[in-house]
Amino acid sequence: MDDVTDVCFRQVVAEEGRPDVFFTEFVNVDALCSAGREAQSRRLLYTEDQRPIVVQIWGKEPEHFRKVAAELVAMGFDGIDINMGCPDRTVLKNGLCSALIEDHARATEIIAAVKEGSSLPLSIKTRLGIRKVVTEDWIGFLLEQDLDAITIHARTVKEMSKAPARWEEIRRAVDIRDAMKRDTVIIGNGDVASRAQALDYAERYGCDGVMIGRGVFRNLWIFHPEKCDTELSFQERLRVLRRHVELYRDKWGETRSFAILKKFIKVYVAGFPGAAEMRKECMDTQSYGELLEKVTHSSIGTGIPTN
Ligand SMILES: Cc1cc2nc3c(=O)[nH]c(=O)nc-3n(C[C@H](O)[C@H](O)[C@H](O)COP(=O)(O)O)c2cc1C
Repeated sequence: MDDVTDVCFRQVVAEEGRPDVFFTEFVNVDALCSAGREAQSRRLLYTEDQRPIVVQIWGKEPEHFRKVAAELVAMGFDGIDINMGCPDRTVLKNGLCSALIEDHARATEIIAAVKEGSSLPLSIKTRLGIRKVVTEDWIGFLLEQDLDAITIHARTVKEMSKAPARWEEIRRAVDIRDAMKRDTVIIGNGDVASRAQALDYAERYGCDGVMIGRGVFRNLWIFHPEKCDTELSFQERLRVLRRHVELYRDKWGETRSFAILKKFIKVYVAGFPGAAEMRKECMDTQSYGELLEKVTHSSIGTGIPTN
């Protein structure tokens, strides 16, 4: 997730309760092949305990996809995922990401370019259509491409993240795959809020795996086989927030916006008496030191765990 699953947040998740596979934020191949390379490259950092790690890429030029794919092999990634699902209006207007759902010729070119550059496992992350659901046409097309996996966010582009995810379309995709006798792994995605729900949906809709995005904001232990049904206590939330701030400070210092880190405050400072007030105090801070000080010494809610 863009501006969320950087190397620091993935580290927090790896320590607290790791998923089976990690994905990076999406990384722009055109930027990597331009003067903007350095800023974009920070999205490529990972640590060994974040394996298996799949790098997600997006962009315009097939030649850039090819060149970057070769570099990603050398960087040691375990797999490559191509974003064909981002619903951003400008991205769509420029014919990128989810626009490829209606541009099979370009999608074919991009997939071929990545395969030319790398023999790593290759997946596509996509949606059900742009304005209307076109599962048969689009997923049928992708299944012809000899991919290792397809992750389907079960909404159209137009639906953004608003309408409920259409999990019955995941079942349809699996049925299409089976009818075509392909062995491409199908991963369902959208609105999964617990590990139990993920396991239930995998069973009910027949997919091989489930991707969880925003669910980790509500429960940082969502991937943990034992702790998944327990919520973090007040003290644990603040402990993990401190850890996250320290990781972010040590990795990025002044090179990445402090405001991006502050977006995580609502993830940790929630669900205990005085949380709203403490959140406001934390949001008003201007530096790592100030934020750490607030988290360590705030008088709000002290010692009153609610769970
Ligand atoms: C802040 C944010 C950033 C996201 N960035 C990406 C991204 O870089 N690549 C991607 O494939 N999906 C991205 N997504 C979409 C999620 O991967 C996922 O498909 C979507 O949130 C639905 O799943 P969920 O209900 O489990 O969150 C992002 C979502 C959010 C909320």
